[in-house]
Amino acid sequence: MAKKNTRIIAVANEKGGVGKTATVINLGAALSKEKKTVLIVDMDPQSAATRGFGIEVSEESPTIYDMIMNPDDYPLKNVVKETKWPGIDLLPSNSDLSGAEVELVEVEGRENRLREAMENANGCYDFILVDTPPSLSLLTVNVFSYAGEILVPCQTHPYAYSALEELFDTIEAVQEDINPDLKITGIVATFYDHRTRVSRSIMDRLKTAEQTKDLLLDSVIRANTTVAESAFVGKPVVFYRGTSFGAEDYMSLAREIIQKGK
Ligand SMILES: Nc1ncnc2c1ncn2[C@@H]1O[C@H](COP(=O)(O)OP(=O)(O)O)[C@@H](O)[C@H]1O
Ligand SMILES: [Mg+2]
Repeated sequence: MAKKNTRIIAVANEKGGVGKTATVINLGAALSKEKKTVLIVDMDPQSAATRGFGIEVSEESPTIYDMIMNPDDYPLKNVVKETKWPGIDLLPSNSDLSGAEVELVEVEGRENRLREAMENANGCYDFILVDTPPSLSLLTVNVFSYAGEILVPCQTHPYAYSALEELFDTIEAVQEDINPDLKITGIVATFYDHRTRVSRSIMDRLKTAEQTKDLLLDSVIRANTTVAESAFVGKPVVFYRGTSFGAEDYMSLAREIIQKGK
């Protein structure tokens, strides 16, 4: 089979609760509906992306932690799981991953462990989407060293907006030190609610501020309880309720992301 030109996109924001995991799950599913093959990599020890696909990993089953810490014994093909939906595979995590944080400190080339572990995935998928923990940890640095692109969900909330500055500084430092090819694909506004003034005003700021106006994507993810509900039952929203606002918004984001790669 012809090798695919794989786009590796990290979904990142150092703030928690801004829609990172929801974006990984639902953008991934929406891309698969657009006939793209997708690998989800769960790099958050909280494993919300794993659960969002309805996948349970037992204490013994191999996870991304094993791939990073012990790549010779745990190659990709032994860890990857098929989801219930065709075209979407997943590398699960569990709480073991929080241990990697400490254990990696002693390891040589500690920033590049994920990249090395993932080498065999290149060319096998159209998209690899990586979920990240809500902090600038060694795990996040591994993700930034591996990814080609970063997609930044920004909640339309004042605190989330002010966190962007910090994220941009981090990305700049990573570009200088470890991954000069890392690009920001864009900022996607999340939890948008046109009825609230704060949502509208943060949106205006994202559209006009020097730092964000060229990065802001046209697609907007509205606040929609169906998104939260679908995560709870372990199904991406486009499969759980295809006619919801949530499904509509993530389909639009998927098409925009595909278009950006052309
Ligand atoms: N557009 C949305 N509308 C309503 N709830 C959402 C939306 N996006 C995410 N959520 C819910 O909000 C919570 C935080 O989102 P999550 O994606 O887990 O954020 P993060 O990964 O950045 O911490 C989760 O319970 C999630 O299901
Ligand atoms: Mg998350």
